[in-house]
Amino acid sequence: MERVLREGAFAGETHIVSGAGQGIGRQVARALAAHGAAVALVDLDEGRLRETAAQITGEGGAEPLVVPANVAEEEQVGRAVARVLEATGAIHGLVNVAGITRDSRITKKSLVDFQAVLGVHLVGTFLLTREVATQHWHPLFKAAGNQPLRDGVNRFIVNFSSVSARNGNIGQADYTAAKGGIESLTRTTAREFASYGVRVNAIAPGPVNTPMLAAVGEAGIRAMAAATLVGRIAEPEEIAHAVCAIADPKLFGYATGQVFHVNGGIYLA
Ligand SMILES: NC(=O)c1ccc[n+]([C@@H]2O[C@H](COP(=O)([O-])OP(=O)(O)OC[C@H]3O[C@@H](n4cnc5c(N)ncnc54)[C@H](O)[C@@H]3O)[C@@H](O)[C@H]2O)c1
Repeated sequence: MERVLREGAFAGETHIVSGAGQGIGRQVARALAAHGAAVALVDLDEGRLRETAAQITGEGGAEPLVVPANVAEEEQVGRAVARVLEATGAIHGLVNVAGITRDSRITKKSLVDFQAVLGVHLVGTFLLTREVATQHWHPLFKAAGNQPLRDGVNRFIVNFSSVSARNGNIGQADYTAAKGGIESLTRTTAREFASYGVRVNAIAPGPVNTPMLAAVGEAGIRAMAAATLVGRIAEPEEIAHAVCAIADPKLFGYATGQVFHVNGGIYLA
């Protein structure tokens, strides 16, 4: 994948990317790897993760760690983070991309669907955040004598919200509630993890050309493109590059607790 930052911007760092089996997550993993990061790929489907890994090695990236896991399942997340730490000894970045949709109006929405969507987005983001912190960042803080870590090491979380968190979207009571929750979780995590030297931000994309958006159908996608100011939907690579920028301490080292709106102007925050 094309590099947008200086060569080796993330050299020596390990980044976990959830949802790395397809769509935006796959492109985020490729983009971070293209800048020198060792990436750990988390998704439900091991086969798709292996495809992502093969793409990354084919592009000259370090061999990714393939870690199949359901981000909504506490034990699986705990084991996944432990595996990454065993293999690499350190985690510098976490990008919480995994997501699902189960669209239907509130009157038709089952509790099972509502909870499934919250489970993957909101609970999944919480679980990965908690496990990386309890297994790694908090112990680093303790080892430093409970003093704020100001060691110049890049540490970050990028969470995935959506334009629909602010704007609402018919059929997406669960999804928009989860994304609003993720924005709030991002702010609290930023406050709690400041002493670990971790910057915690979220990105809120507009419509992006992925299998998730394809479910909306061609007419819906055309309408969304027309509703943006730039006149098109985004490609997943563009969102991946924005994640790289937020992750880069030379570009956004002074930004934490923020939501970055990368939405083509479909909503003006
Ligand atoms: N595509 C868009 O238009 C758009 C817009 C705004 C925000 N987003 C957000 O961006 C993120 C990525 O979306 P996308 O369009 O690439 O979606 P996608 O459906 O193409 O990919 C999502 C990935 O998450 C994985 N996943 C789902 N449930 C999981 C679980 N329980 N555990 C582990 N992995 C799981 C899937 O297997 C898949 O590989 C999501 O959080 C989504 O809400 C997407």
